[in-house]
Amino acid sequence: MEAETTVQDGGARAGGDKKVFVKTYGCQMNVYDSQRMTDALAQEGYAPTQVIEEADLVLLNTCHIREKAAEKVYSELGRIRDLKAARAEAGRETVIGVTGCVAQAEGREIIRRAPAVDLVVGPQTYHRLPDVLARVRGGGKVVETDYAIEDKFAHLPAQKAAQVARRGVTAFLTVQEGCDKFCTFCVVPYTRGSETSRSVAQIVAEAERLAEAGVREVTLLGQNVNAWHGEGPDGSEWGLGRLLFRLAEIPGLARLRYTTSHPRDMDDELIEAHRDLPSLMPYLHLPVQSGSDRILKAMNRRHKAADYLRLIERIRAARADIAMSGDFIVGFPGETDADFEATMEMVRQVGYASAFSFKYSPRPGTPGAEMDGHVDEAVKDERLQRLQALIVEQQHAFTVSMAGRTMSTLIEKPGRRAGQRVGRSPWLQPVIVDEKAGGIGEIIEVRITGTGQNSLFAEPA
Ligand code: SAH
Ligand code: SF4
Ligand code: F3S
Repeated sequence: MEAETTVQDGGARAGGDKKVFVKTYGCQMNVYDSQRMTDALAQEGYAPTQVIEEADLVLLNTCHIREKAAEKVYSELGRIRDLKAARAEAGRETVIGVTGCVAQAEGREIIRRAPAVDLVVGPQTYHRLPDVLARVRGGGKVVETDYAIEDKFAHLPAQKAAQVARRGVTAFLTVQEGCDKFCTFCVVPYTRGSETSRSVAQIVAEAERLAEAGVREVTLLGQNVNAWHGEGPDGSEWGLGRLLFRLAEIPGLARLRYTTSHPRDMDDELIEAHRDLPSLMPYLHLPVQSGSDRILKAMNRRHKAADYLRLIERIRAARADIAMSGDFIVGFPGETDADFEATMEMVRQVGYASAFSFKYSPRPGTPGAEMDGHVDEAVKDERLQRLQALIVEQQHAFTVSMAGRTMSTLIEKPGRRAGQRVGRSPWLQPVIVDEKAGGIGEIIEVRITGTGQNSLFAEPA
């Protein structure tokens, strides 16, 4: 989850002579935001670069979810400060900006701790970046962390076909932001604000633009993506299931995914979408966090372990080959050995194709941080290791079970070795094929001839 990525490209305005380097922390929503920021800055004459030393503007798009994620930003800012000083000696100016969830959570405090920072912009205000940059050029520091009343998506320039195409044949599309669930461990409701949904018209238009630019697979994003709701063209209320049915009609869009969903928002129509839509990929990230009812209650998840298991049964009844993924927290305040064993048991019962697990990290301002019964770091470590060993075992079993099967594969990019291409299975696994098997963007049927750690080797079926 805390993967670090640099934005690949964005496409520069002809004659643009400045460069921007964007480093992305955190979830896919930040990856999407970094792309939108890069595209918007391209129109201001900033060409994207992967080489930080040559950047006139450095943006860190940050994550606040766990302490480690947030602290990483400050060590990075230390390095960038030195870079800024070195460039200044050579007579070149460098603007440093912090965007994303740390920006929202800490605001001006960031500039106090790291005075080299020139601008701090929250996730709901990045459409104002051009204006913020103009103010920084006028001298002074700018902090923009109010939740904007205007819709940022309506103010961002639409993605250009060339910008989309350069990123490849898969794309993210944020449809929902923020969260009203207030799990007691989580900062998202504070960093991203309350739940908001983009309109059907906006989403369909963006998906059509992506498809026209050659995108074959779209992943809809939201902190609680299945809480998305909107008004259909006929005035009726739509949920995510209905939206998926609509997006499935767009020519060229062959594959749909969505993430991250909350168990309480999996409604009947969404489950029907899994049953009836061949283009909705059979892979579902459905975090549960714990297998203990006591801990689920303390976390304010508002469902029990049995509810989650029943839900998965219903989803599997609708789509037999669906693979599950999840998130778990170990060492939440008050978690006993018995609570942890209940989590292990839950994992055994579900059987995950993949899962993320984290040690509980107390976050400032959340109710969990104030609770009694904080668990020893050593105990958290031990629980995390045991849980991860179980998950790795399941993941491996899932990969090995693919041998000999035939499946569709979307060819995404050249492989690391000459003559190879890498595709993606319906279950998100990399699939290595010979380049003669198909061109980038093609969806082909393959037979799995061998399996690696996570990847699959295949030949055309
Ligand atoms: N909206 C999603 C999760 C978003 S955060 C959901 O409700 O499931 C992504 C994951 O980070 C969470 O699922 C959780 O497992 C983990 N996480 C969030 N806050 C955390 C904290 N304080 N300590 C450790 N892990 C945390
Ligand atoms: Fe955080 Fe809970 Fe909201 Fe997910 S549902 S973003 S874990 S508060
Ligand atoms: Fe991190 Fe913000 Fe995403 S806190 S996980 S970047 S919503």
